[in-house]
Amino acid sequence: MPIETVSWSEQQLTIIDQTLLPGTCTRVRLGTMEEVWRAIKRLEVRGAPAIGITAAFGVVVHVLNREAKTLSEVLDVVEEATQYLATSRPTAVNLFWALERMQRCVSGSESLESALETLEREAILILEEDKVMCRMLGEHGASLIHEGDGLLTHCNAGGLATGDYGTALAPMYHAHDAGVGFKVFADETRPLLQGARLTAWELQQAGIDVTVICDNMAAQVMREGKVQCVFVGSDRIAANGDVANKIGTYGVAVLAKAHGIPFYVVAPTSTIDSKIAHGDDIPIEIRDAAEVTHGFGIETAPDGVQVYNPAFDVTPNELVTGIITEQGIHSAPYVETLPKTLSVE
Ligand code: MRU
Repeated sequence: MPIETVSWSEQQLTIIDQTLLPGTCTRVRLGTMEEVWRAIKRLEVRGAPAIGITAAFGVVVHVLNREAKTLSEVLDVVEEATQYLATSRPTAVNLFWALERMQRCVSGSESLESALETLEREAILILEEDKVMCRMLGEHGASLIHEGDGLLTHCNAGGLATGDYGTALAPMYHAHDAGVGFKVFADETRPLLQGARLTAWELQQAGIDVTVICDNMAAQVMREGKVQCVFVGSDRIAANGDVANKIGTYGVAVLAKAHGIPFYVVAPTSTIDSKIAHGDDIPIEIRDAAEVTHGFGIETAPDGVQVYNPAFDVTPNELVTGIITEQGIHSAPYVETLPKTLSVE
């Protein structure tokens, strides 16, 4: 059963608060646009597709709270919500993609009632479409997993990051359901431990053989011949196939190349940003120093020390063996293959 990371029921938005995992799995209600913003910023809900889905419902929450009386008021409120929610996190393009969809869907509305209905329907559609995407990613990616394989993943690109069973973890769930036996190494993913806290939690729940390793152990595990394939998700893919994902992904890709291990990126086409030609132009979120010096309440570096804490890095396309979207497995040259995936949308 996929995890219900984001849920919309009786016009109420709830999420699993991922900052409490793996110790506690609790749903919290996000009743205002500000609460939605804060939940995204604090990583209570995180992962590119889940951020987009939550933000789309955040727009609906704000419109319902404002009780607009005219169509033009609704349009203003939608504009206000999209502008505000867009400032929560900069890297995952799915956030901006979902907010743009919310703005676009309502722009042609002819009445207040139809505008409200359209907005709610669009947010639900974004969630439902994501579920279908995950299944398709899983189906395509599972063809690369063989009995006895060791797989490595970084961060969390599973059910907790999406509306269904993930992007990078989707092939694993699909292969597991088909009875294929394999082992997963989950990088712990410093500084916020999405791999150890979230990936390990959800794979363990699903009965998949998972082993947590510290980020600095990946080279040795690869050298020992324990990894046959790497699967990671993405927050934004540039038109040339450069891939932004959780900090540390680039290092994993370099290691994979050095050990002759295929490195696959699994993401829906909504993660491809055709407006960005090159990975260098992808905005990288810089997060609070305290995440590095006082992660989870323990002081691990001296007070006042300088810290650099980029939340994402960019893997150059030449290190990427293939990009798996809902349409299949795409290979280099991405500058030619990726536009084709977008034109058949
Ligand atoms: O900072 P996070 O936890 O939101 O980072 C998440 C990732 O980097 C994921 O790999 C990416 O969003 C893909 S999720 C399907």
